[in-house]
Amino acid sequence: MELNIQSNISLKPFNTFGIEEKTSFLIEVNDNETLTQIFKKGIFQENFFVLGAGSNVLFTKPFEGYIIRMNSKGIQSKIESDHVYVTAKAGEIWNDFVWHCIKNNYAGIENMALIPGTVGASPVQNIGAYGTELMYVFYECEAFDTQTGEFTTFKKQDCDFSYRDSIFKSKYKGRFIITQVTYKLSRIPHINSSYGAIEAELTKENISQPTIADIANVVSRIRVEKLPDPSTVGNAGSFFKNPIVSEKTFKRLQAQYPTIPHYPMPKNQTKLAAGWLIEQCGWKGKEYGQAGVWKNQALVLINRQNATGQEIYRLSEQIICDVKQKFDIILEREVNLL
Ligand code: FAD
Ligand code: EPU
Repeated sequence: MELNIQSNISLKPFNTFGIEEKTSFLIEVNDNETLTQIFKKGIFQENFFVLGAGSNVLFTKPFEGYIIRMNSKGIQSKIESDHVYVTAKAGEIWNDFVWHCIKNNYAGIENMALIPGTVGASPVQNIGAYGTELMYVFYECEAFDTQTGEFTTFKKQDCDFSYRDSIFKSKYKGRFIITQVTYKLSRIPHINSSYGAIEAELTKENISQPTIADIANVVSRIRVEKLPDPSTVGNAGSFFKNPIVSEKTFKRLQAQYPTIPHYPMPKNQTKLAAGWLIEQCGWKGKEYGQAGVWKNQALVLINRQNATGQEIYRLSEQIICDVKQKFDIILEREVNLL
């Protein structure tokens, strides 16, 4: 089939911030052959960017180049005694995939229900929520090397997963296109209700022996209360990562702010809640031109209506500056800037 290259396309429907910027070219990828075609045309030697559902990107200017949008679909499973290996194509919507697994009683990703985005992006920042992270269920992925034109397999140990990070976001940033991901899930559910408000919600709903579907439903309800729905208020979830600090830095902060939320990490490090730091600087619920900070979660920057990417970027700079001044902590963006 002839390669379909669309030109001068608005990116507004393709990013959850709802930013109005254009791309010179857009190519939809529905299968692996299309990637080989793109390679043969030399497009990977030009400026390109791989996009899933656009739920973790901020466009700050027109994109001069090729947006490669992953749209391939398909899910297959292979049962091996208590486990199941489920392989999904990159363009599958993550939450639909979660519910496909729940309906088949495949456990392990129910706590990550309602995270926006695609399967193909899930390993990139090692998505995580409500007590789990992708790395605990990741088995392997197939990826296309845009430098050599070959398909290769990444096993879990190849991916350097850590909090909101992987080799696809660091060493190999922009090089490999993930075409499908295989997850190792369990046919014997181990319910994980220890994080945050899950237990309290279950009690409120009189659920004493939750199923994996109950967990996904409860997590989804908590998320809807805290986070804005991108279909009505543009956003990309947490704009910054939670900072991980040394024991010395944490002790300094705790002496000054005894109620500071914190979570122990390996190597004597401590994770702080960026939302709390930002709220302490007075930013929660604040407007900044057409941009703003979400009223229920200060870690989420929003497009109030017609914000430009530049406006949201400037707000993020202001927040970084204020947090640095008050706490001497430098926040790092989670969202990918373009
Ligand atoms: P995109 O935003 O399109 O791309 C993100 C990055 O991945 C880009 O660098 C892109 O180049 C790369 N990429 C995308 N697809 C591929 C591919 N196939 N191969 C190689 N690289 C690729 N994240 C969490 O971890 N936990 C949360 O709880 C969470 N909550 C959120 C809530 C809201 C309301 C929103 C809007 C976002 C939230 N996010 C959360 C962030 C987002 O959902 C994830 O980062 C998600 O994995 C992004 O998927 P995407 O398909 O939209 O990726
Ligand atoms: N907090 C505040 N004020 C705020 C927001 C949070 O004080 O405005 C405090 C809370 O009271 C709590 C702590 O900060 O003590 C943590 O808050 P929350 O449980 O809401 O989680 P988070 O650390 O802000 C992280 C992820 C989310 C994920 C949730 C649930 C990051 C950067 N964010 O948020 O992921 O859904 O935990 O697991 O790690 C995303 O990555 O886009 C995202 C939404």
